[in-house]
Amino acid sequence: MTEPAFPVATGEHRVFSGVQPSGALHLGNYLGALVKFVALQHQTQCLYCVVDLHAITAWQAPKTLAAQTREIAAAYFAAGVDPAEAIVFAQSAVPEHSELAWIFNCVARLGWLDRMTQFKEKSGKHKERASVGLYTYPVLQAADILLYKATHVPVGEDQKQHLELTRDIAAKFNHDFDAPGFFPLTEALIEGPGARIMSLRDGAAKMSKSDPSDQSRINLTDDADTIASKIRRAKTDPLPLPESVDDLKGRPEADNLVGIFAALSGQTKAQVLASYGGQGFGQIFKPALADLLVERLAPVSAEMRRLMADPAEIDRTLAAGAQRARALAEPILAETKRIVGFTAGR
Ligand code: AMP
Ligand code: TRP
Repeated sequence: MTEPAFPVATGEHRVFSGVQPSGALHLGNYLGALVKFVALQHQTQCLYCVVDLHAITAWQAPKTLAAQTREIAAAYFAAGVDPAEAIVFAQSAVPEHSELAWIFNCVARLGWLDRMTQFKEKSGKHKERASVGLYTYPVLQAADILLYKATHVPVGEDQKQHLELTRDIAAKFNHDFDAPGFFPLTEALIEGPGARIMSLRDGAAKMSKSDPSDQSRINLTDDADTIASKIRRAKTDPLPLPESVDDLKGRPEADNLVGIFAALSGQTKAQVLASYGGQGFGQIFKPALADLLVERLAPVSAEMRRLMADPAEIDRTLAAGAQRARALAEPILAETKRIVGFTAGR
């Protein structure tokens, strides 16, 4: 696998990222987020959060929420995140996230939030029926990141706008309270072959937990037969695979499958096309892609199943992570409150 380029070696850098426990993880989450988490953990201090406060911006049945929180944690560990190295925890276990989010709700402007495309997509036609939490979701995300003064955030491309908002909030806070440089202007780490994995049924839509068709995505927990059948049925066009990357333009489904192959095998798209260009999809390329997916994902899902068999152990690991996270968060929040002018702790 190609590792994401981490711009600066070590030192004053801190990485934060999160995944919502709102459904099963898919290949987009794996390539867009988890693979980067693993690569970064040895380079600098990393915090990886299961963002359960974000998940409840849409209805989550309480029993499912607990199980899914553990499942996301298990996916982090199974993908290779080492809880002795990175800090892995559930967002709701560190109340400072909510507290900083309130302060940031008073920094962010309505006009900024009105521009957020994810809110528009998720609230759909009836935005008056969406929760208020869904609207302020990106403010909580900024609090997640800045509570630790994180400098870098590995995410998929869909999070770009939220990271821009995080910088806007940091800059406005620093300016309004005359605290230059107090919060860093955090950078997204989006680059990489897995930044935007598309649906297997529609090359124009991103692979997503919320797509009603299970055929549109590869879940981390899919078995080998399911993966093979989803890839066999994945939408393509009637032309053979092109010989050059330029000729993938205007062929979103072909581009996506070649991109997935490249990301999983650590090759460039050009290298993949050097092997498969000129051939049809069905005979050789799709079976090879299915084999590659099974080879990469089967060990992850087997390890997830093993870890999920002992939920108490996952809870203990998350609780230990939350303690470490709080130790970092408390002084930053205390200083923030002092800057704002609150009297507590003076
Ligand atoms: P979510 O499932 O929305 O909490 O997303 C968790 C992480 O996976 C975020 O970093 C997303 O940007 C990333 N992600 C989600 N869908 C995709 C996709 N189709 N391609 C690449 N990354 C994705
Ligand atoms: N909004 C992110 C997503 O849907 C999840 C998230 C919440 C997050 N807080 C974060 C990602 C902080 C990175 C950093 O994928």
